[in-house]
Amino acid sequence: MSSNGHALLSLDGLSAEIGGQTILRDVDLDIERGECVAVVGGSGTGKSTLLRCLMGLYRPARPSSGRLTFDGRTFDLTSRKRQKSRHEGFAFVPQNPQVGLDPLKRLSWQWSQALRCARFETPEADGRAGVLKALRLDGFGKRFPHQWSQGMQQRLLLAFALISKPKLLVLDEPTSALDPIVAARAISEVMTYARRHQVSVLIVTHDLALAAKFAQRTAVMTDGQVAEFGPTQRLLAAPRTKAGQLLVTHRQWPAPSTDGPVISAGQSHVG
Ligand SMILES: Nc1ncnc2c1ncn2[C@@H]1O[C@H](COP(=O)(O)OP(=O)(O)O)[C@@H](O)[C@H]1O
Ligand SMILES: [Mg+2]
Repeated sequence: MSSNGHALLSLDGLSAEIGGQTILRDVDLDIERGECVAVVGGSGTGKSTLLRCLMGLYRPARPSSGRLTFDGRTFDLTSRKRQKSRHEGFAFVPQNPQVGLDPLKRLSWQWSQALRCARFETPEADGRAGVLKALRLDGFGKRFPHQWSQGMQQRLLLAFALISKPKLLVLDEPTSALDPIVAARAISEVMTYARRHQVSVLIVTHDLALAAKFAQRTAVMTDGQVAEFGPTQRLLAAPRTKAGQLLVTHRQWPAPSTDGPVISAGQSHVG
């Protein structure tokens, strides 16, 4: 349950299976409004499956139990009704820009389509232009996706996600398709925007450094379970489980001081 009872998202007892094989076991998670939570774990531990279930995408894994409360509404995750309302308030950014952009359509056209899909209360421009400005995206001109760098393409996908004014931004391995410096910059920009607009962020990653830099709380996943979930600082300073200890021991930067920032910009290793 939520630490203060006012979570934006609260997940209780999610288990999921593929063809009778258990992929997720009794997963609990909660995210406060405006909070960044990371889910960290090795490959194959169930991170993407967890995200898919949260988003209401029930293939290949189907929930066999679990309840989700999001923004005051509660869903039984084993019910099909959940699937119909899956997109309300969530925005998902795919791992790879190439998955999210049509290579044969001009960027300006893709942006106009994204605007058509987004429900915006304000009549025009300011909010939308603000998203582009915050992510340092200049005019599209007549360009196609391949004429932009991977970093700019990824930032455009982040902008697509943000113009729908989500309450929760969900990022699956957001840095793995980009070079480390470009990735760190894109994520920093989006985090600044999210903080300013009270958007909660769920980052799923195998990279503890990313969690250390941005997440207030981190869940460690292993074998389809959440081994531990708590303040990122506490995990880094004193992991309570074997899975947590393994992650922390194999991190690639020096141990943080207890009262300073978790990780300084110069030390960041995001890749
Ligand atoms: N289409 C599938 N068919 C069978 N097993 C799958 C399929 N997709 C994922 N799995 C299994 O589910 C487990 C969790 O996968 P996943 O959620 O993708 O992990 P992660 O995102 O942490 O790498 C893995 O053991 C994987 O083998
Ligand atoms: Mg994955």
